[in-house]
Amino acid sequence: MNAEAFVAELIRENDQLLARLAPAATLTNEVAGDLAPVKLLRAALKNEIEASEIAARWLPTAGSVSLKLALARQAGDEAKHYALIETRLRELDDNLIGFNPLATGYSPMFQYLASLGSDVERVAAQFTREAIAVVKNRQFIELCERAGDAATARLYRDVIEPDERFHHEMGVKFLRELATDAEAQALARAARLRTIEVAEELQNLAFARAKIHHAPGC
Ligand SMILES: [Fe+2]
Ligand SMILES: [Fe+2]
Repeated sequence: MNAEAFVAELIRENDQLLARLAPAATLTNEVAGDLAPVKLLRAALKNEIEASEIAARWLPTAGSVSLKLALARQAGDEAKHYALIETRLRELDDNLIGFNPLATGYSPMFQYLASLGSDVERVAAQFTREAIAVVKNRQFIELCERAGDAATARLYRDVIEPDERFHHEMGVKFLRELATDAEAQALARAARLRTIEVAEELQNLAFARAKIHHAPGC
């Protein structure tokens, strides 16, 4: 299969797989409980620092200048998201004193991504992770709106979500360049699947521990 057809197939399959991450029925419970956007924004800080760091880690060994530059831009975007969320938390009276998003260590998603050794696997994982982010952020915007937090909803809708969508599209572009033969396509497919599995495991864990189902992604 040529790379173009392969990526089109992956996008189609992803849409079906990502439906598993859209448990809309739980949204009302969360808004009613103590899951104000503040708690979810703290979870978002961890995602953003990890996303920034993983892009920076992949940069030195990336096989092309264009991929290096894309990763550099992504590392910067995720750092910008971190700063914007921090500012929003302060506006919501969370001064974050003593808060270190990495105090409990890196997440299983970070560890999985850090274990990937080839550009095609990394790009496939990123393409998937950012597609997940778009789904999660859409849910989070809805949660913020239902909770009456219009400013956080606006931050996600106008700034963060468009960047995450761009990161996903970056993944699409590089997958088309890299997933050119059966071997590369098998690696990409496996990385895509494992990324969704790790995201699902993390979502189930967050729900079991803290009843969080709609933390934003990045
Ligand atoms: Fe982000
Ligand atoms: Fe991102």
